[in-house]
Amino acid sequence: MESNDFIEKLIAEMTLEEKAAQMLQVPVSVVGMDEAREWARKGVGSFLNVIGDDMREIQRVVCEESRLKIPAVFGIDAVHGHCLNRRATIFPSQLAMAASFDRELVEKIGRVTATEVATEGIQWTFSPILCLARDPRWGRTNETFGEDKYLAGELGVAIIKGYQGEDLKDGSSVLACAKHFIGYGEATGARDSYDTEITFRKIRDEFLPPFRKAVDAGCATIMTAYGSIDGTPLTINDKALRGLLRDELGFDGFLITDWDTVNSLIRRQRVCDNHGDASRLAAAAGNDMIMCSTEFYDAIVQQVREGKLQESVLDEAVRHILTIKLRQGLWEKPLKTGIPGSIGCDAHHEVALKAARESVVLLSNNGVLPVRNDRKIRKIAVIGPNADDIRAQYGDWTYFTHPVPGRETEPERPYVTLLEGVKEQLQDTDIKVVYSYGCSVNRRFYYKGNYPDTGAFMEQVYADNDHDAEFYKEMPYVNEAAAVARESDLVILALGDNYTQAGEYTDRADLGLSGMQGALLRVLSTLHVPIVTVLISSKPLAIPDVVKKSDAVICAFNGGMYSGRAVAEAIFGKLNPRGRLPISFPVMTGQVPVYYNQLPGWHEGRYVDCPAEPLFAFGEGLSYTWYEYSGLKFDKETKTVSVDVKNTGDMDGVEVVQVYVNDVVSSVMTAVKNLAAFCTVDLKAGEQKTVELKLDDEAFSIIRPDETSVIEPGEFIIMAGHSSKDEDQIKISVEF
Ligand code: NOJ
Repeated sequence: MESNDFIEKLIAEMTLEEKAAQMLQVPVSVVGMDEAREWARKGVGSFLNVIGDDMREIQRVVCEESRLKIPAVFGIDAVHGHCLNRRATIFPSQLAMAASFDRELVEKIGRVTATEVATEGIQWTFSPILCLARDPRWGRTNETFGEDKYLAGELGVAIIKGYQGEDLKDGSSVLACAKHFIGYGEATGARDSYDTEITFRKIRDEFLPPFRKAVDAGCATIMTAYGSIDGTPLTINDKALRGLLRDELGFDGFLITDWDTVNSLIRRQRVCDNHGDASRLAAAAGNDMIMCSTEFYDAIVQQVREGKLQESVLDEAVRHILTIKLRQGLWEKPLKTGIPGSIGCDAHHEVALKAARESVVLLSNNGVLPVRNDRKIRKIAVIGPNADDIRAQYGDWTYFTHPVPGRETEPERPYVTLLEGVKEQLQDTDIKVVYSYGCSVNRRFYYKGNYPDTGAFMEQVYADNDHDAEFYKEMPYVNEAAAVARESDLVILALGDNYTQAGEYTDRADLGLSGMQGALLRVLSTLHVPIVTVLISSKPLAIPDVVKKSDAVICAFNGGMYSGRAVAEAIFGKLNPRGRLPISFPVMTGQVPVYYNQLPGWHEGRYVDCPAEPLFAFGEGLSYTWYEYSGLKFDKETKTVSVDVKNTGDMDGVEVVQVYVNDVVSSVMTAVKNLAAFCTVDLKAGEQKTVELKLDDEAFSIIRPDETSVIEPGEFIIMAGHSSKDEDQIKISVEF
């Protein structure tokens, strides 16, 4: 931790109350502007969920009317672009951008997002999520980089670099926030924020690596997870927060709790029955900033006055916060300046289009794709609930799902839905495009009322599970779609989920197609018209039937503003798809978890009523060409893999080269394989290149029962290929 005279003098001058205030982050969307102004006068350290004039007004009050005039830092969830602002550039979700396996692109996305956030004046985004999504029932699957620790770590570092730039003082740099520390994605039954049944050995092995990389990359802030590990909430988990994060990883930024988790210790997790204990335990465990739980302010002051907590704990937290504020240059420039006119500018939209293109994953194709304009096709039917629904295409965390008070939530152009993308591609042809809605993703109703426990107001969407009622209400739409399809030469069918099924409060027990989508598909598949299904969804769905009944399946996830254009380009062969799955698809819900890097066991993981293999595995993704691998070598000295990759088809393409490692015999069990390196390579039709990839020590090390990390001598298998599947790989054995 840097020691700095300016900061030390400030801390010496601060009252206990001012220290408590500095440690607090106040949600303006909840408390409103009048109360926010009062907090600002007390010198609160941070505010969230406020933008525009309101934000400027709060900062003015902090800088002019609080005693010490320490500028506040404003935070926002800009997690796939500055998406709470409807004029901003909207990128693919983290899950969709992960399908690019493209560090450079992800860094650019971070840079553009930071510039737009900073242009709003805001200095901090709560991104990236470095949790792994290994059980896709989890509602927040879309927010992750997928199921693999290596991919999450690499792309996490890339986006952090993009957000923070070269220098935190830069007018367009914002603080990144790696979240949620730790094991959050592993909650039992994929129930968001529930207890996590993992050991610290497993944490080190599986979940810590991306955070270690984030800390090494200089990530300025980290957010504690909502949940608990083995009965101890992360909010008070000294072993995780002080032990792992501070002492071991050497994190020197500041640590913020998640939303209202200090209150949650009392209300939900019930490990405390008063604010004093909850506040003391949270601070003592190493949280520097407390999000939302404003009771902390009085409670922590009292705890120190009563001698239950040393004031030095508060000093340390304040020091962490002020050090980052100083590094940001907040005293010189209390708000970021960004680049005027850059929000949603053309150059940024170009990056969104590139990102949309790179995130298209072709899952199956019997040859129907790419569709050529060869006069066999005269009419194309675009059908389905997600074909022309920008809200579904965007998914979670946009101005639709998290409206900022006072801002409009009407869809803002430009964006291109799938229907629009198809029309764009065909505008200079005489192929006719017809559209039919088909059915809804889920029938739903809204609940507006108060949370039973906190009394806070909520607006919530519930799925209506009355299938009979659904059937009768929706049948006319299905029939209409069938009539439209019958008259057509090709059906492009957009299925999936929508924003009511993605995010917090939206874990799913059933990963099958919801509503009448399955019935729609069944009806259309009886018509003998080729079907290209496009999955617009926040997560992998269990869709074996879709694969069987479709001639081709494309997965777009939530591809952002230009996803419709990118997918249409892929359908008509203007784009050679190159995206790869950052997460495996289950055959059926009961098969989860199906992540690729599991520990080996008996019976090959088979169920009697379901195969062992996933429907689609991590790293899979087709294109309109083929790649052949040969000449795999490994240099032990430099830990470098080299492999020859040839484009054997007749279309130029981009291959995502993947290298996996298996430790053949080790003192603790290790995964059947782990991704250890990847890169992308451009290959013209017929071209061959030798690709070199350097592996980290981590690729060969294990975590022993005593939690130490070691490389055990012996045999390792190195695999290189097109996906995580054995049949897509060539392998060699090496000895250490
Ligand atoms: C709760 C979420 O868990 C976290 O990811 C988010 O950053 C905060 N709310 C702030 O909105």
